[in-house]
Amino acid sequence: MSNAPEVVLGVTGSIGAYKAADLVRHLKDAGYAVTCVLTPRARNFIQPMTLQALSERKAYTEMFDLETPQIVHTTLADHARLVLVAPATANIIGKFASGIADDLLSCILLATRAKILFAPAMNVHMWQHPSVQRNVQTLKRLGVRFVGPDVGKLACGYEAIGHLAEVDEILRAAKQLVPVIGGGASAAPTAARAAAPKAKSSRKPAKRPARRR
Ligand SMILES: Cc1cc2nc3c(=O)[nH]c(=O)nc-3n(C[C@H](O)[C@H](O)[C@H](O)COP(=O)(O)O)c2cc1C
Repeated sequence: MSNAPEVVLGVTGSIGAYKAADLVRHLKDAGYAVTCVLTPRARNFIQPMTLQALSERKAYTEMFDLETPQIVHTTLADHARLVLVAPATANIIGKFASGIADDLLSCILLATRAKILFAPAMNVHMWQHPSVQRNVQTLKRLGVRFVGPDVGKLACGYEAIGHLAEVDEILRAAKQLVPVIGGGASAAPTAARAAAPKAKSSRKPAKRPARRR
């Protein structure tokens, strides 16, 4: 069995979602096992198939998934060492800060005991809006870590803060939160890992580890 730390990579409906593909490759090369979860709106920006192929695991998009017998959100939440949301929209930041659980990713965020890292990306005025800043502060107080956003060229035309942090920067932040022991790239392709939730049966919910933050 692999010792690779389990990462749930949440992808939300930002123009920066295409960079999630590169992020998956970098995470895997660094020695993480990655399961991608897309919000319904993220699917407007990147295909689940791309993330599934790169992660070598099923990419989840549905809260109510008849093809997976396990309860997907709690299984993924329990197995994760890190839940990384990149890119993170104003919407997912606001939902998590308010305890809203209306899709798979937002349910995982509430159900997990793992460390949580957000890489926001959005229009500069959205990012600077007091409402978004209040939500960010709320999450920081709860122990959620943030990487970026950076100053850069935004899709809306501004050269301003709101740009998704570079993949290297996100990877560095992930490694600080959850180091890979022994570092280094996974070797052979492992299509069988697509069934990550299967391991649930050996876990007893009553013995959940303490929150790792
Ligand atoms: C072309 C386009 C680009 C967008 N980019 C962003 C973005 O970078 N950041 C953001 O917060 N919202 C962005 N939005 C708005 C989100 O898609 C919208 O708030 C959506 O409800 C987010 O849903 P989700 O957080 O569930 O993925 C964009 C919308 C469009 C049409």
